[in-house]
Amino acid sequence: MARPATRTPPTPAARDAAGSEWWRTAVIYQIYPRSFADSNGDGIGDLPGITARLDALVELGVDAVWLSPFFTSPQKDAGYDVADYTDVDPLFGTLADFDALLARAHALSLKVIIDLVPNHSSSAHPWFQAALASAPGSPERARYLFRDGLGADGDVPPNNWQSVFGGPAWTRVNEADGTQAPRKAQWYLHLFDTSQPDFDWTNDEVKELFRGVLRFWLDRGVDGFRVDVAHGLAKKEGLPDWTPDPSLGMSDHQEAAPYWAQPGVHPIYRDWHEVLAEYGPDRILTGEAWVEPLSKLADWVRPDEMQQTFNFTFLETPWDGPRLKKVVDDSLAAFGGVGAPSTWVLSNHDVIRHATRLALTPPPPQGEGLGPNTKLYPDDVVGLRRARAATAFMLALPGSAYLYQGEELGLPEVIDLPDSARQDPTFFRTSGANYGRDGARVPLPWDVASPSFGFGPAGVSGPGASRDDASWLPQPATWPSYARDAQLGIPGSTLEFYREALAARRTHHLASNELVWLPSPDPAVLVFRSGAVTVIANTGATPAALPDGRVVLASGPVGTDRVPGDTTAWIVT
Ligand code: NOJ
Ligand code: CA
Repeated sequence: MARPATRTPPTPAARDAAGSEWWRTAVIYQIYPRSFADSNGDGIGDLPGITARLDALVELGVDAVWLSPFFTSPQKDAGYDVADYTDVDPLFGTLADFDALLARAHALSLKVIIDLVPNHSSSAHPWFQAALASAPGSPERARYLFRDGLGADGDVPPNNWQSVFGGPAWTRVNEADGTQAPRKAQWYLHLFDTSQPDFDWTNDEVKELFRGVLRFWLDRGVDGFRVDVAHGLAKKEGLPDWTPDPSLGMSDHQEAAPYWAQPGVHPIYRDWHEVLAEYGPDRILTGEAWVEPLSKLADWVRPDEMQQTFNFTFLETPWDGPRLKKVVDDSLAAFGGVGAPSTWVLSNHDVIRHATRLALTPPPPQGEGLGPNTKLYPDDVVGLRRARAATAFMLALPGSAYLYQGEELGLPEVIDLPDSARQDPTFFRTSGANYGRDGARVPLPWDVASPSFGFGPAGVSGPGASRDDASWLPQPATWPSYARDAQLGIPGSTLEFYREALAARRTHHLASNELVWLPSPDPAVLVFRSGAVTVIANTGATPAALPDGRVVLASGPVGTDRVPGDTTAWIVT
């Protein structure tokens, strides 16, 4: 049943109490600022836009938000290229706007986590500019990874590493000192775009810079940090050559790489843990670490390191009973083994939205994205049905869950973006071979009636202007049916399904109960018990028997005694 639009989910007082360890059970909603809500009509979302829409997230029933970067940045990688870690980019507003956002969120009992991007800065960062203006071997260069090239002229990169976004991971500089012989011109490492030089994390000034960044935002009152590329900060001594396995995709699951998951990352997180602890027990670090297996990833959340780390193994698990059961068991064992909560996630700004991805078997590897030439035609109806079933399964699991803006509306990946609109550096660095991630980043539709579906106030004006001018990536003409106001209060809508799920998760303590698997005659059908709730997830096509009791949540229509395929139900007995 849909609930009235005005209903506000209960806020347990315990969540706000110091020492509550709120993050062990929290549902954390990812806001991608440039695509959430635009307050000033320039087509790009901003901080005042977010503040004005926070009530909608309370209505949804989440506990916290994570904001992707809004810091000073040339926006070469949508803000993951930071030029000033302690200021707000004018595109998104001002520090005062951030303070207002934080105050409003806290008044609504929403925690706020912000993004920390420590692996690399923007090439526009004053430190990198100073490095370019300084000589090889200088202290300014020592904050980054500058090296001499190989070969007689030094024109061969220092090693064979490839950028996650495609192309070489090294760029040669033009030395400022024109008197230098060309062979002296150095190269710098960038695991991502040329505009994102990697820091040298053995350098004490780098360590001190980031302690200061943490304190700057903790002093303002943030509840924690999502740590970008948390598997990449330390590089193997000597930067040895390494050739990735091409079948594994570009960015992830290359565990043997000399730049991923090196032991040197752990002292950094222990250091940060102590900085956060100065602010009490409830500030958190969440790692974006693409590390497998889960037993190794658990090292990131040992008691003196981070509080949480994303579970990408879960995200990448197909909609398949035995494989889902295994990843849940592996996660609970690995994270539980170090006293950390398991986390769960199905979508974010870097992956194909799960309402599309789950209709593809298999989906393209992470980072490749989808576009007109991919020649894959995911069925939106199948995708959304599986996505809702997968979400109902995820939100019943013990631990903390992450949602990505727009999934509560059932948004699919936008596949047919014109090449001219695409902005992901992946697209350009692979000459269009990989579409990248823009299809998951299209601005949200809030209201059916307005030009940008309520994303911003921009109207269609001037000769030649079109609806596309109202948002930085064009919203598909088919999106009115996904708009928030078209779903609010409508029984069976995806938005109402999410609201019911989040409310029932809270009522029945699903995040803190113990999970107990129940026997199932069909491996495609998973059944488990969590407190008073029996959860049944039918990943197959054959209907399964509905357990006895009262259905408190169903991801799609269920019969009186049957759970159809691609459907999850929660039953209270
Ligand atoms: C992971 C971020 O989520 C992604 O968007 C970004 O491009 C890379 N890290 C580089 O910062
Ligand atoms: Ca704006």
